[in-house]
Formats: sequence, structure tokens, C-alpha cells
Amino acid sequence: MALEKATGHDKKLQDRLIESGEIPKHIAIIMDGNGRWAQRRGLPRIAGHHEGVNSVRDIVEACGQLGIKFLTLYAFSTENWKRPEDEVSLLMRLLLKALRDEKDRLHQNEVQLKAIGEIHKLPQDVQDELLDGIEVMKRNTGLTLILALSYSGRWDITHAVRKIVEDVRLGSLRAEEISEAVVGRYLSTREFPDPDLMIRTSGEMRISNFLLWQIAYSELYISDQFWPAFRRKDLYAAIGDYQRRERRFGMVSDQLKKQEGPRVFPLSGMERFLKSVSKL
Ligand code: FPP
Repeated sequence: MALEKATGHDKKLQDRLIESGEIPKHIAIIMDGNGRWAQRRGLPRIAGHHEGVNSVRDIVEACGQLGIKFLTLYAFSTENWKRPEDEVSLLMRLLLKALRDEKDRLHQNEVQLKAIGEIHKLPQDVQDELLDGIEVMKRNTGLTLILALSYSGRWDITHAVRKIVEDVRLGSLRAEEISEAVVGRYLSTREFPDPDLMIRTSGEMRISNFLLWQIAYSELYISDQFWPAFRRKDLYAAIGDYQRRERRFGMVSDQLKKQEGPRVFPLSGMERFLKSVSKL
């Protein structure tokens, strides 16, 4: 099975973006603004969630084409259970439908599906569909799509602390051995690198209990678009902006200039990207 390639103008945009700097290995997205997108159009909130699935499809496809290795989507937070019962129920039905409808296409595009969060709290049919998708796609080698479902950063850390304490009690881990790397291995994200870029849509400047431990050094990008309107052109703008950042990881600029490494990006990345796009 092979990845569906970008074509025409979009292919040119992607090629220019790849040439203009480093493509982040892992992008995490807080998909926000579905309700407001719908309300502004006089539609029920669920219409925003429906259109949001189309954005998910477009972004997943574009990420795969750009060679991004990991994409984590905050699809349902621990706190989202507090929403009105009918909205939660409709969201779960929509998730089930999206998993069913998209499974073959994701598989054909070499996507590997993963999930983080309290999966056992999801309705049984959603769990079954999710686990089936994960199983079917487990040998795929393209983009790893991680759905955060009934997830929160504090839950993740609390859960990790409990397991660490248990292992110390059982004697399989010594307290002196607990380092940042060890904590990382107890988190639900243990298989994945930390996100390089965290995008939030709808203009809100909050992390909302997403990957709290994992985003220590992630670049943050806030888009004014509501999630249902956020499409690949907005993703390209976010990546272009990321390419302009200097990631210092606590060091000073001069140290980075002396050291050669994949995580140091040219300051002119965005400028070059915008220039090349304007020529198209
Ligand atoms: C936030 O908008 C969005 C959500 C809580 C749900 C996101 C779910 C989807 C896009 C659909 C299913 C996902 C997948 C992965 C197939 P909001 O409702 O908080 O909007 P508001 O802030 O304007 O109220």
C-alpha cells in the first residue's frame, strides 16, 4: 500500500516547505473551536464536530505527505466528560463513525494508529473499533496518528506516579534510579518522542491539561482559525513559523551556532518559505 501523494499547487507548497527548513518530527494539536464555528453559522454545536472530522482527514493526509512521523490529536479530554450528556454521546457516535469510515483510507496511506488516555472509559463499541484499527494498522510504517481520548496531562502524570510507587514497593525499581528518563517511560507516551510543535486552534492561549510533561521544550503555535476551518494551508503556515524559531533547550544562541545538530533551524526559514510560496 502506498501513500497518496500531493498534487499540483499543493505539491509545490509541500516541496517548498521541505526545502525551507526542518519538518517537525512530532506535531501535537489541541483542536479547539468546533462549537463556536457552528454557532457563528447558526448551526448546532455538533455540526462543528462533524466539519472538524474533515479537518482531521486533511491534516492527517498532509502530515503523512510531508513525512511527519507523529501526530497527536487531543480528541477528547478527561474534562470533556463534564459536557452535556447528549453532546458527549453525539461526540462518541461521531468518533465511532469516523474510525469506521476512515480505517481503510488510513491503512492504505500507511498510517499507524495509536491511542492514549483512559480508553476503558469509552463506550464499548468505540473501544472495539479503536483497538481493531490499532491492530489492523500496527505494521504500517508511515505517520503514527495518536488519538488522545479521555486524556489529560495530569491524569498521565498521576498514573505514572502510581506505577512508579508500585514498582518501588515491589522492588523492581529503586527510588534512586528515578530520573526524568525513567518518569518518561511510565507515561502513556513512552513510545513517542516529545512534540516539537504544539498547535492550538481558535486563538486561545491555553494548554488545557494536554501533554504537560511532554511539551517542556515544544514550540507553541496559536492559530486564530477554528478547528473546522483549519486546513493544510494553516498547517503549512504553522510549520513555516516553526522553521523560523531558534530552539535553545536552555542554552544560549552562541552555543547553538557552534554546535551542528538537527534541532537547530535557520532563522530565515520562514522568510524563505514565504518568498518561495509567493512566487507560485
Ligand atoms: C473542541 O471544540 C473539540 C472537541 C472537544 C472534539 C474534537 C473532536 C473532533 C474534531 C471529532 C472527532 C475526532 C477524530 C479524531 C475523528 P469545542 O467543542 O470545545 O469548541 P468551542 O470551544 O468553540 O466550544
